[in-house]
Amino acid sequence: RLKICINTGGGDAPGLNAVIEAVTMAAHNRQWDVYGIKAGYNGLFNTDEIVHLTPKVVDGIAIQGGTILGSTNKGNPFQMPVCNVAGECEERDMSERVMENFRRLRFDALVSVGGDGSMDIAQKFFELGMPVVGVPKTIDNDLGGTESTFGFDTAVGIATEAIDRLHSTAKSHDRVMVVEVMGRDAGFIALNSGISGNADVILLPEIPFDIEKVCAKIMANELSGRKYSIVVVAEGAMPQGGEVVAKGEGEMGRQHVLLGGVAEYVAKKIAERTGKDTRSLVLGHLQRGGSPTTFDRLLALRFGAAAVRAIENGKFGHMVSLQSADIVTVPIAEALSVEKRVDIKGDIVMTARDMDICFGD
Ligand code: F6P
Repeated sequence: RLKICINTGGGDAPGLNAVIEAVTMAAHNRQWDVYGIKAGYNGLFNTDEIVHLTPKVVDGIAIQGGTILGSTNKGNPFQMPVCNVAGECEERDMSERVMENFRRLRFDALVSVGGDGSMDIAQKFFELGMPVVGVPKTIDNDLGGTESTFGFDTAVGIATEAIDRLHSTAKSHDRVMVVEVMGRDAGFIALNSGISGNADVILLPEIPFDIEKVCAKIMANELSGRKYSIVVVAEGAMPQGGEVVAKGEGEMGRQHVLLGGVAEYVAKKIAERTGKDTRSLVLGHLQRGGSPTTFDRLLALRFGAAAVRAIENGKFGHMVSLQSADIVTVPIAEALSVEKRVDIKGDIVMTARDMDICFGD
């Protein structure tokens, strides 16, 4: 009778609860015990944050957004902020305490659900001897080793619906609407929702843009009689020659230096150069909240059940992955070695270009 545990780390994504439900049910069907570790690895650090997961506890949670276990992107045990009474803090490697608690509680395996940051931590614990299986999650879809992550389909759906709604208001006022969607390092949400939502311009982190080209497209629309335009911009999009700076405090990725966000920057430049009445909005966490789509729900349930099968087969240090409609496992290290970004010569970008969508390049 195995005793396994599960945690969720990094930003939440619709489908996390479906993974928890599937892991619990698949383990229960094998007469295993399952425990939920709260707030990433924090629950293995202070062990009062561990809950017993039973079919009753997880009943029906697959349709709920968020994660019943809580999540954090500040819980890296290899870089734990430790503060003294004077409030002075420093980062320390506290992984040994997590390992000790894991052994003391006699867990046989951990299912770690998360994005690249969580997979990196999972790999480090695996190297220290922890039997861990990864489950990939990110709404940005930028995690290597899998064709898709759950949460992405939901985020694209919400962004597309928002863009659809912007058409009528933009058209009524002959305005340019600039909408910023999530995607710090990768433009998958912007690309997929922008094409589906019939945007005129899509700006991606992978294709630095020239604001003059963006304005030229808007003026071409104007001359053709279409007096409004929709610009979809990924939060990590950068103007050509824009400065890229690293984020501090252990955060991953990059940060644009455009104060107020990239949508506001783009909208201001468009208004100045074209004279068009222009508005900007940021969709933000709306893209992460709420119930997962059927696709995400099913993918998350399949990932969760596959993670339990991976434990059964001793596939530690592996991550479950979607490949050619099948769920397989890949070494976590292999997934981490791939930087997954929009293929700027790929079919979806080509489709957008064929549809006369401007990337500002
Ligand atoms: O990685 C997922 C994501 O939603 C990114 O698209 C976004 O940049 C980031 O997380 C936001 O993080 P937070 O919730 O910490 O603001």
